[in-house]
Amino acid sequence: KSKKSAKKLQNPQEENSNNSLKVLCRGLTKTSRAPLFVQDKGINLMHIESRPSRMNKDQYEFFISVDSTCSQALDEVIDGLRTQISGHVHELSRNKQKDTVPWFPNDIQDLDRFANQILSYGSELDADHPGFTDPVYRARRKEFADIAYNYRHGQTIPRVEYTEEERATWGIVFKELKTLYPTHACREHNRVFPLLEKYCGYRQDNIPQLEDVSRFLQSCTGFRLRPVAGLLSSRDFLAGLAFRVFHSTQYIRHSSKPTYTPEPDICHELLGHVPLFADPSFAQFSQEIGLASLGAPDEYIEKLATVYWFTVEFGLCKQGSEIKAYGAGLLSSFGELQVRGNEPKVLPFDPDKTSLQKYPITEYQPVYFVAESFEDAKEKVRRFAATIPRPFSVRYNPYTQSIEVLDNTQQLRNLADSINSKHKTISSPLVDFV
Ligand SMILES: [Fe+2]
Repeated sequence: KSKKSAKKLQNPQEENSNNSLKVLCRGLTKTSRAPLFVQDKGINLMHIESRPSRMNKDQYEFFISVDSTCSQALDEVIDGLRTQISGHVHELSRNKQKDTVPWFPNDIQDLDRFANQILSYGSELDADHPGFTDPVYRARRKEFADIAYNYRHGQTIPRVEYTEEERATWGIVFKELKTLYPTHACREHNRVFPLLEKYCGYRQDNIPQLEDVSRFLQSCTGFRLRPVAGLLSSRDFLAGLAFRVFHSTQYIRHSSKPTYTPEPDICHELLGHVPLFADPSFAQFSQEIGLASLGAPDEYIEKLATVYWFTVEFGLCKQGSEIKAYGAGLLSSFGELQVRGNEPKVLPFDPDKTSLQKYPITEYQPVYFVAESFEDAKEKVRRFAATIPRPFSVRYNPYTQSIEVLDNTQQLRNLADSINSKHKTISSPLVDFV
């Protein structure tokens, strides 16, 4: 199966799929009646694909894509598949009409569904990848991908015994970048980095474990890491941020090119992203982007993904009279961290304009956007999010780790009560200070 066809199936939002329903049935035998059942209901079967289950070798998974013009029959089909066919049924997407709200996770455990919806498995490398012809590296990548594929929310992230070669690659990247941080990284990054050295094993000769780092982040801002087996769609990746969950790779780049990687790897995640997720203001900023993405129409997902790119990945911010880097793509690239400020254009961060900016993925950025501060960027993203056409608002409830959809007055009243109570908590010590 080509990558392109996989993308078409698993990332329907980016394809012309306004009129289809995509379903994944897992745990079926090869001779399952699931496809026939769909056809029996008079629904047009547009695509079907089967593969051996990665979870259980005796079982099969079926991807079924059907014409969704008849919504009532579709509901019957979904219910029927769930009750009459033995196995698990996941509805991956449904776009009955243009104005239908796309599915989004309501509960933090719903993020487990994304493990099945990766656009490419971690061990499938492109021909120009430095590790493409290295069978040992490819086998290693498969090990990492399997860890992520089988991971479920609430589990401990499996520890990895990194090889000497892998640690040497990390060491080169760590040493080079650490020399640049004092002069090039934003103050939030520099404030957190020593804590990571102290508590999470950030050292030149040691690759930190995701579980340790995730626990540290949870104690700082409630952000947590979860391993990911491959590329997620923008919609799924951004949805994770709404729950303060960051999908992180665990493998490392190929040792032949320690200063280059065509994709995110553990150096990028741990050195670029993690320090900022420990900062309360940045953590909230990232979550705001995630919350704005939930249920957003496809064209806005693309805009939010672009805003994410120019902030969380390649953002610059003003600090005093200087401009510093806070984007993980910069903070994990020895070359790009130094080059910026010379040739590239630096524009003020403005989501309305930033969200439309085109960008290259594998070259240095020709354009960067500079924020006045995280607070300012957050406020601007908030205003931008308010322009996204959604018939409801969303709020993350950290006590239940779930999304509350605010679409009726009682919910708004409850929210107002909660804010009122917090306001009292805040204002009482303020009075004492005054
Ligand atoms: Fe990244």
